Amino acid sequence: MILSIESSCDDSSIAITRLKDKKLLFHKKISQDAEHAQYGGVVPELAARLHAVTLPKILEEAKSYFSQLKAIAVTNEPGLSVTLVEGVSMAKALSVALNLPLLGINHLKGHICSLFIEAETLFPLDVLLVSGGHTQLLHVTNLDEIKLLATTMDDSFGESFDKVGKMLGLPYPAGAIIESYAKKGDAKRFDFTIPLQGTSSSLLAFSYSGLKNQVRLCIEAQGNLDEQTICDICASFQRVAVAHLMQKIKKAYKERSVEHFGVVGGASANLYLRGELEAFCASKKAKLHTAKMEFCSDNAAMIGRCAVEAYQKGAFVAVADLKVRSSSKDIFY
Ligand code: KG4
Ligand code: ZN
Repeated sequence: MILSIESSCDDSSIAITRLKDKKLLFHKKISQDAEHAQYGGVVPELAARLHAVTLPKILEEAKSYFSQLKAIAVTNEPGLSVTLVEGVSMAKALSVALNLPLLGINHLKGHICSLFIEAETLFPLDVLLVSGGHTQLLHVTNLDEIKLLATTMDDSFGESFDKVGKMLGLPYPAGAIIESYAKKGDAKRFDFTIPLQGTSSSLLAFSYSGLKNQVRLCIEAQGNLDEQTICDICASFQRVAVAHLMQKIKKAYKERSVEHFGVVGGASANLYLRGELEAFCASKKAKLHTAKMEFCSDNAAMIGRCAVEAYQKGAFVAVADLKVRSSSKDIFY
């Protein structure tokens, strides 16, 4: 079995994954949403302090598996460096104390592996990764060969939901709340412009800061917001935010075939986005792969699943060599 640890942002999570059949034997996650909500976003220093309390608590519950462990795995990149250090330090201590090899896992590869929890991997695979930190379109030949087709030039898709939520006075993280408000709203009431059209339409990239500004100006123009107006803003924003993703995805695959398409990351829980991706995949005769809702946002189960692949390749790292890195551009070619 492999014990995996995730602490790249504000979720403390530990999982135990069985090597022979990839079965998830134990998985626990403690989120810090409530603690960060009052600041309108994640405060790295606070997140690190909370990990230092919650990770040992979760570890206590996983102790019965210690005698059967073959390796310790931990997210070491990308993420908030001060929070990554919490998980990495714990992993190093366990590796030394239990005399077990250590695996450093890339968080983005972990999100890709959220599609394969308790299942076999499936490659090649095209992936849309939409989270609080990333908006990326990837062609994944395998976990060691990942081509970046498009990324965001500024805010990420999930981040734009959080920022619009903050402007509307909604709690952090706002993604799921905006989605639920949008269900009750008129998506055509506010005619926000889809980003990166016109002169930059040839560009294969995403951008959300301009849309966020359009929403800010709209909110300011409305003055006092009644419940229905909030719902209409959420619905209109979500429609345009997703339309932007879809426009660029369609562009990317205009002359490119795709058989298997996956969507991962916290924002992949969005059902409106999933619906649009279903329609796109149907038009390309491709199959859409989604993670179970509980594995969309950050979790150690996906890190454990990724670690099974790393273990089988023998990709171990010496305790002194495992470094924390806030970005990881070099996983792409
Ligand atoms: O993957 P994740 O848990 O953390 C990062 O690695 O960033 O993603 C969290 C992000 C947040 O920005 C949150 O607002 C967004 O995912 N999110 C959503 C939805 N659920 C979570 N965005 C849009 N619609 C949702 N239903
Ligand atoms: Zn993530």
